[in-house]
Amino acid sequence: RGHDAAPTRRPFSRVTTEDIGFFSELLPGRTVTDPDVLEACNVDWLKSVKGSSEVLLRPQTTEEVSRILRYCNERNLAISPQGGNTGLVGGSVPVFDEIILSTALMNKILAFDGLSGILTCQAGCVLENLSQYVEERDFVMPLDLGAKGSCHIGGNVSTNAGGLRLLRYGSLRGTVLGLKVVLADGRILDCLAKLRKDNTGYDMKQLFIGSEGTLGVITAVSILCPRKPKSVNVALLGCSSFQNLLETFQICRGMLGEILSAFEFLDASCMSLVEKHLKLINPITESPFYIVIETAGSNSAHDEEKLHSFLEKVMASSLVADGTVATDDAKIKALWSIRERITEALRHDGYTYKYDISLPLEKIYDLVTDMRAHLGNRARNIVGYGHVGDGNLHLNVTSPAKDAALLAAIEPYVYEWTQKWRGSVSAEHGLGLKKRNYIYYSKSPEAVRLMKDFKTMLDPKGILNPYKTLPDDGC
Ligand code: FAD
Ligand code: MLT
Ligand code: ZN
Repeated sequence: RGHDAAPTRRPFSRVTTEDIGFFSELLPGRTVTDPDVLEACNVDWLKSVKGSSEVLLRPQTTEEVSRILRYCNERNLAISPQGGNTGLVGGSVPVFDEIILSTALMNKILAFDGLSGILTCQAGCVLENLSQYVEERDFVMPLDLGAKGSCHIGGNVSTNAGGLRLLRYGSLRGTVLGLKVVLADGRILDCLAKLRKDNTGYDMKQLFIGSEGTLGVITAVSILCPRKPKSVNVALLGCSSFQNLLETFQICRGMLGEILSAFEFLDASCMSLVEKHLKLINPITESPFYIVIETAGSNSAHDEEKLHSFLEKVMASSLVADGTVATDDAKIKALWSIRERITEALRHDGYTYKYDISLPLEKIYDLVTDMRAHLGNRARNIVGYGHVGDGNLHLNVTSPAKDAALLAAIEPYVYEWTQKWRGSVSAEHGLGLKKRNYIYYSKSPEAVRLMKDFKTMLDPKGILNPYKTLPDDGC
């Protein structure tokens, strides 16, 4: 059952005028049925999945979410929770006529503790707004990603987003300290702890982190923010081979260790795409591979000295062919744009088949090379980029239009390849609609069975984000 395998609509109720009446009374002016507004919420960021929901609900409080879910559960109405709608696996939009429950108006910061750095906020806060808020208080958010201007913290937690700073600050499974969640029947689970340590039994919040809206709706998050580094440097380096890039990474970890905050890569095809579609400028000599390194520390003189001795070493040994370093904000932003905006450039390039794979580090680029040999000239572009520090490759294949024959050539080849190296078919984007049936390439049948048991226990009618995450065989 492949990428394009369409699920069958399950026997949920259809929304009636009585239902609209109930919602309009509960959320006056925030129960949206205007087809023009619904159009945007029915389509995902990649414009590859389109639902036909006729109702968008915009609650402002946990209590309102609870009343919506209690009603939907009783009426057997399906719900698709939506944050910033930047998800890349078709998880954030309805497949059929599910009601869209948006967190866009749940955007209040509830508390910030300047001593511990713990931020507590509603789930619909936009990541970039949170970054700005904590930076004004000398802290940073522990995650950063190219979609920061639109994605919501609740969406980030629901997908367990990784992003550009995971190498330094770890995953949301460590930095999220607490959650408030509304369960399918409307019960409110308040796990909004603000403690770093709490071993009183099972850690319930972990179940909802990365559950893609299938087990509950997250309404509030508390998250641990690190102190804002005093000095930040960014370097863009060019390498002539992926082997050289990996050796540079090894040296980098050894010489920059505690100040290293990102080690990202892109190949020459990605660079061509950001130049072509976004008119970004490559400030260094053309190379087959590029690295973006960020250091973040507390002493600019020490950090710069360390960075320069690292650069001297990798250039003297010819591991790095050319490079440039930025210390001022404008140049740092320009260098980061080259890496962060690849996703956007790919969308301009055509229909994009996206793969988000975890692999043993030494194998990550072999998948791109093998895919190029395997597909020949059937694709428009086959590119590789990603989070080297996390062993996470983003393999993307573009085509002038959706192409069933091309897709059949990519899948299951890409998943079999990944399984052979005991990798993961979703490192950070989740499974959503598109990858749900590939779960067995990375998870055992026993694990999937237990996932289904959790789903049945928490959402017996299956109203929360149906057709997502779990495979079609059951649930
Ligand atoms: P949505 O897209 O709205 O939803 C995503 C999923 O979460 C859906 O299944 C939805 O039902 C569910 N959901 C949303 N809110 C809630 C809630 N409150 N309660 C329960 N379920 C909810 N991902 C990475 O991991 N690393 C990256 O570096 C990265 N970079 C990106 C760059 C770009 C340009 C884009 C477009 C996407 C990128 N992503 C990345 C994908 C990533 O999944 C999202 O950007 C982000 O985490 C999703 O947040 P969102 O608010 O947009 O959620
Ligand atoms: C990234 O690292 O740029 C994101 O995960 C988005 C993508 O894979 O395109
Ligand atoms: Zn990524």
